[in-house]
Amino acid sequence: MSSAVLSEPYRAEFDPNSQEFSLAGVIRPHSVDEIAATVTQLKQAIDEARGILYFNVKRLAQMNNTAFHAFARAFIDACRTRSDIRFVIVTSSVVGWTERMFRHLGNIEPQITVEVYDSKFYPGQTFVEDTSFIPILRTQTKMTWRHERAILPRHGMRPGIHMADICCGIGDFAVLARKEFEPARIVALDHSKASLAYARDVATNFGITDIEYTYGDASEMLLEDNQFDLVTCRHSLQIFNQPDLLLKELYRICKPGGRVYITNEKNSHCLGEPRAQSIRWTYDEVAKLFAHFEMDVELGPKSRRYLTDAGFDDIRVESFMVTNLDGDPQDFADIITAWENVYAGEMAVKRGDPPEFIERFRQGFRDHIFAALHPKGYAGWPIWAASGRKPL
Ligand SMILES: C[S@@+](CC[C@H](N)C(=O)[O-])C[C@H]1O[C@@H](n2cnc3c(N)ncnc32)[C@H](O)[C@@H]1O
Repeated sequence: MSSAVLSEPYRAEFDPNSQEFSLAGVIRPHSVDEIAATVTQLKQAIDEARGILYFNVKRLAQMNNTAFHAFARAFIDACRTRSDIRFVIVTSSVVGWTERMFRHLGNIEPQITVEVYDSKFYPGQTFVEDTSFIPILRTQTKMTWRHERAILPRHGMRPGIHMADICCGIGDFAVLARKEFEPARIVALDHSKASLAYARDVATNFGITDIEYTYGDASEMLLEDNQFDLVTCRHSLQIFNQPDLLLKELYRICKPGGRVYITNEKNSHCLGEPRAQSIRWTYDEVAKLFAHFEMDVELGPKSRRYLTDAGFDDIRVESFMVTNLDGDPQDFADIITAWENVYAGEMAVKRGDPPEFIERFRQGFRDHIFAALHPKGYAGWPIWAASGRKPL
């Protein structure tokens, strides 16, 4: 959404420690003279650098040809005079044009390479972002909403606010929040093109036109600072290998006095009766499986620490248990089936688990379903909801 991106003039910065020259914002000069100081700054950085100089354009929302040619000239000239230096241009798929334009430069000059930093930026990215997670997210939100609709007003949700749902997945939460609480504005951002396409279809089917679905990277957002009264980020800190980076961004886009609301799990505490032991074994293994891909699905009770370390005050933490008694027990069973399919399927296979392990692993999910559907059974999935206020 163009209204949601950086509108301030561009920023140029050189960090000599990391030998990284960064450009961010919108650079559209009428003539090269307007950016002469920045081009000189780049040339000086190149002179100073040894080995590799990184040119970071991850947050460069727009640049016209005049600017592109001026910067490109500086690189090409340096390649001609310095055989000892290499340039790595770091682009993001979120601003796709940068990759296309700079890739061309890389084709001309072997000393220049282009990296799309978010093409593989955390180890579990492939299965979280392709279509395998869609059925999981659908069934989960249906069950958690029953609890969260009561919890959210204690964490800053109210009519008329400007809110952002970061890592929105397939967008169900944004749709439910819009219906129930009537915020004045909702931006819903995710890095999965498959999930966003799904979200847009759902919105179209429901005749919803005012949710701003946005493709973006939550750890490097193009959203402006201090815009939202409430920033929600559900079940997602736990799948990032660096949750603190994500929290920093949530903090940045939140208004002073506004709140950031996060939900996370502690998978090893999923439980059920009967067959408690087999269930417990499997969910301990779920936590280990995610840890293998550098995701911490045990993060829930650590929310208070993360929010404190990120600079929030007035931190509120509560937990709730989604159970088979919340509604139709089959809904609970459907969540577990979706977990079994992805965790004991794609993920365990990718880790290289042997068939005997996978069979035992699957059995725990089946026992959890057995407990959920048993007339005297009980099955639970605990979740931590927490929020902090950005100080005034
Ligand atoms: C476990 S899902 C949770 C989705 C949704 N909040 C929910 O509760 O249904 C995690 C989501 O984070 C998204 N995601 C992962 N890394 C991201 C990033 N760097 N920027 C934006 N979204 C990201 C994934 O595409 C996925 O939709």
